[in-house]
Parts: sequence; C-alpha cells; structure tokens
Amino acid sequence: MRRIIEAFSRCRIVPVVAIERAADAPALARALLAGGVGVAEITFRTAAAAEAIARIAKEVPDMLVGAGTVRSTEQVRQAVAAGAQFVVAPAFSPAVCAFCAQGEVPVFPGCATPTEMEAAIALGLTHLKFFPAEQAGGAAYLKAMASVFPEVKFMPTGGISAKNLREYLDLPNVLACGGSWMCSPQRIAAQDWATITKLCKESICNAR
Ligand code: 3PG
Repeated sequence: MRRIIEAFSRCRIVPVVAIERAADAPALARALLAGGVGVAEITFRTAAAAEAIARIAKEVPDMLVGAGTVRSTEQVRQAVAAGAQFVVAPAFSPAVCAFCAQGEVPVFPGCATPTEMEAAIALGLTHLKFFPAEQAGGAAYLKAMASVFPEVKFMPTGGISAKNLREYLDLPNVLACGGSWMCSPQRIAAQDWATITKLCKESICNAR
C-alpha cells in the first residue's frame, strides 16, 4: 500500500480509464506517461478491462496500473491476475475490502458519507476514494470531513476537471484526484493520443 500511496501523492492525478479495445491500452498508457502521468486506473466498465490491464502491465512496465469500478471479489481476482497493482471501488463493499486485505491488494473503497467512512476506517483503511465528489458535496464536503476523520486521506473522483482540480488538491486531506477529464472514452476511441498527452501535461502543471 505504501508504494501506491507514494506514487499517488507524487503524481496527484489518477486517470480513470474506460477502454473498449484492449489493443489501444499500451498506446494510451504511453500517451499518459508522455504527459507526465505514471498512474492509470482501468475501470471494469468495459469488457476489455482485464486484458487492457494485462497489456499495460506487460508492454508498458513503467506505468503503475490498477483496476477501477471493482464491485466484486471475482473482479478483484481478475484484476490481480491481469497485473493490477491496486484496486479502486465505487462503493464501500466489506466483501471486496476483506478479500483485498487477505491478498494484500491495496484497495481504495468509495465512500460518500461519514457512516461509510467510519466503516472503512474500522477495517483499518485510511485512504479512501470520495465518490461522486462533485455531486456529493465537492471540496467543501471533504473539508468538513477533515476535522472528524483526521487520519483519512481521500482520492476524490467524479466531476473533477482542470477547472476545479486545484480546489481539491489544495485540501490537506486530499491525496490525489481521479477522473476521466484527460482521457475521455471518446478520445480513447478516437485514438487521440496527442490530445491526451497535452491534457495530462496541463493537468500536471496545474497539480504542482
Ligand atoms: C470514477 O469512477 O472515478 C468517476 O466516474 C470518474 O468520474 P469522471 O468521469 O466525472 O471524471
């Protein structure tokens, strides 16, 4: 877990990727790396997710690749078998968290309420995804969580873009921001690697 947290806190941006063709995954990973982003969360929102993770793990070893939108222990199994180094979940699932703990797989469960946060903390988890960030109350909401959960660092995702990135990153309880703003499914489908690299570079400048 420590290694993943360090990578997130260095990069401060975690692209959330929905990819339809696994064959595009290595080129996408290289485009992100060229833009200074060395982390990618490949979501299980498409059937290509596991193969995309496997191709990145094998062909672009400099990329820290993880799995996102993980909702079941079976998906954790598939992700890890493919080479995922971390797991991000949209919800707080005790079953997924316990399974990850058993396999020593770093996991970031999605929490949107103090009750879910408390339940995750009770399992020993102190690095949580905050989802859906903008819709659930945005940076102001996370700021309010700092005084009650001082031990927690969040990775907000959902509705984050170049416009509001700074608001979140300026909070001391934010580890990194996740989102698809630099690699939308449309841009990936169009193989628009140059724009993805450009948006990553801009976001990285903004994040420093
Ligand atoms: C996620 O799963 O983390 C979010 O859906 C990403 O949200 P975004 O597409 O609004 O960036």
